[in-house]
Amino acid sequence: MSVHKTDIKRVTTHVIQEMKTRGEKISCLTAYDYSMAGIVDAAGVELILVGDSASNVMAGHETTLPITIDQMIYHAASVVRAVKRALVVVDLPFGSYQGNSREALSSAIRIMKESGAHAVKLEGGLEIKDSITRILSAGVPVMGHLGLTPQSIYKFGTYTVRAKEEAEATKLLEDARMLEEVGCFSVVLEKIPSSLTKLVSESISIPTVGIGAGPHADGQILVIHDVLGINKEFKPRFLRHYADLNTIMNDAITNYIKDVKSSSFPNEKESY
Ligand code: KIV
Repeated sequence: MSVHKTDIKRVTTHVIQEMKTRGEKISCLTAYDYSMAGIVDAAGVELILVGDSASNVMAGHETTLPITIDQMIYHAASVVRAVKRALVVVDLPFGSYQGNSREALSSAIRIMKESGAHAVKLEGGLEIKDSITRILSAGVPVMGHLGLTPQSIYKFGTYTVRAKEEAEATKLLEDARMLEEVGCFSVVLEKIPSSLTKLVSESISIPTVGIGAGPHADGQILVIHDVLGINKEFKPRFLRHYADLNTIMNDAITNYIKDVKSSSFPNEKESY
C-alpha cells in the first residue's frame, strides 16, 4: 500500500493509543536520513524511530554509546523533512538523560526544537523515572524502552534475551506499570520472552512495541537496514529479511563499474 499526499492524516500519539484500544497492530521502522524516511513514510508505517542504532548502521560503531546529541539531531531533522504522515520519535542518546533530570529535559527540548520531531524515547525504568517525568512535564511525549536496552550493553555483557528469570521479569512488569502511570504514550519491549510480552501488553493500557519480543506486542519495530537485508551478516532469530538489497545493490554497482570500464556508459543519449 502506498499513501498519497491527498490522503494524509498525521499519526499522533492519540492515534497510536486508539490503535491499541481497537486491537489494530502498530507498524514501526527506523530511519535515519531523508531519502529512506520518505520511502518508509510513503509505504505507510505509523511510527518512525530515529534510533540511536544510527551509531551502528550509519556510523559503523560496535555499540550505540558513541552517538552524540548533535548527531541525533542531524539524523532526526533529515527524517522530519521527509515525513508527511508517521509519528517521528527520536532516541535520547547515551549520556544525555541518565542521572540528571534537568539535563534530560534540556536534551529533549533540544531534540524537539532543533529537529521538529514529535516525541523522544529513553531506555530504562525506575532508575530514570525523574528524567521521564521532567520531560513529560514540559509536554514532550515519551516512549519508554525496557528489556534489552543497548545503551547498557556493558552492564549486561551480551545481547541475549533479557528477563528470563522471575526477578528481572517482575521488575520489568513494574517498570512498564510505572511508565504507564507517569504518562508515557508507549513502550518498546526488546528481546524478552513472548509470554512476558503478552503479560505486559495485557497489564498496561498504553501500546507495547516489540523487537525480538514475539507476536503479542501491540506493534512491532525493526531496524530498516535489517528489514531490507543491507547487512547480510546480521541474522538474529527475531529478524525477517523482506528484501536482499545487499545483493541488488552489489549487482547494480558491479554492472556500473563494468559499463564504465568498457566505455559503454555514458552512451550518446546520456551525453550533451
Ligand atoms: O535504536 C533503535 O533502533 C532502537 C530499536 C527499538 C530498534 O531502539
